[in-house]
Amino acid sequence: MPDLPDARFPVTRMRRNRREDAVRRLVAENRLSPDDFIWPLFVIDGDKQKVPVDSMPGVFRYSPDMISEAVQEAADEGIPAIALFPFTDPAKKTEDGREACNPDNLVCQATRAVKAALPEIMVVCDAALDPYTTHGHDGVMNGDEILNDATLEILIRQSVVQAEAGCDTIAPSDMMDGRVGAIRQGLDEAGLGHTRIMAYSAKYASGFYGPFRDAVGSKLALIGDKRTYQMDPANSDEALREVRMDIREGADMVMVKPGMPYLDILRRVKETFAMPTFVYQVSGEYAMLRGTVDRGWLDEKVILESLLGFKRAGADGILTYFALEAAKALNARR
Ligand code: PBG
Repeated sequence: MPDLPDARFPVTRMRRNRREDAVRRLVAENRLSPDDFIWPLFVIDGDKQKVPVDSMPGVFRYSPDMISEAVQEAADEGIPAIALFPFTDPAKKTEDGREACNPDNLVCQATRAVKAALPEIMVVCDAALDPYTTHGHDGVMNGDEILNDATLEILIRQSVVQAEAGCDTIAPSDMMDGRVGAIRQGLDEAGLGHTRIMAYSAKYASGFYGPFRDAVGSKLALIGDKRTYQMDPANSDEALREVRMDIREGADMVMVKPGMPYLDILRRVKETFAMPTFVYQVSGEYAMLRGTVDRGWLDEKVILESLLGFKRAGADGILTYFALEAAKALNARR
């Protein structure tokens, strides 16, 4: 930026444009809106169930008959999209996670319920096996190894089944190589060319997923860690390669995950590819903020501040467990 001769104190006083609410609103470079949010929701078996998640106060697992009510509330606040994750009965978990491909599994039931009640809401469903496997990994295993290409076949079936249940956006979160292209081809061959793919492209092997694994019941199951398929938090250039490959394979939208510790990645991805770019403020980030706000150690303003940071870094949209309360807070401001 050129050092303009007049951009000097006292001719220039930066505080002039911060004096009143009116001018602050006028010069604001970024703005949060309910349109920016995707609200992740957990589904559990049963009837009339709304079960709290211990490590995520304020977050619940809903039975399929209860979920539409929650989604209706989100729609009323102007939230355009939700993402569904299942807490799978341990009795239904197998080595190969085949419950993922059951057209009547929890995610499919919930998707049908939501789409019947609120057809205009965008429904995002993960493609990954971890909620369904006895070992808690996102793919099938042979000994200690997570098998890439064998997993792809299952992910394709999982994606098609979810899309047939009404899911309009498949979100591969498994980090197997080639999954976006495989899923794209599988969807197209099944006549589901309109189903879009939001790729978890730069997904890191992060400690911030702990409460999520609690919420979907894969925490105790998980053997080892996910570092042979999720990205090393040390890397940044590698994220660009991942995103580039996913775009070439047919991703309609890309994602960076987690959020707050990876704002630099978000910025690089958006600047490099100019794609619809999303960020996932994950369960551990929620727990961290929720816990400190609930204790009164931080004011609840930090929640919107954290979300605005994603917009500033280049996000077009944000997956956040705060979606509903943030939308309510934004709507109340009007
Ligand atoms: C499944 C999946 C995970 C998350 C979204 N999809 C967990 C993981 O990869 O272990 C994390 C979401 C969160 O922490 O909020 N592959």
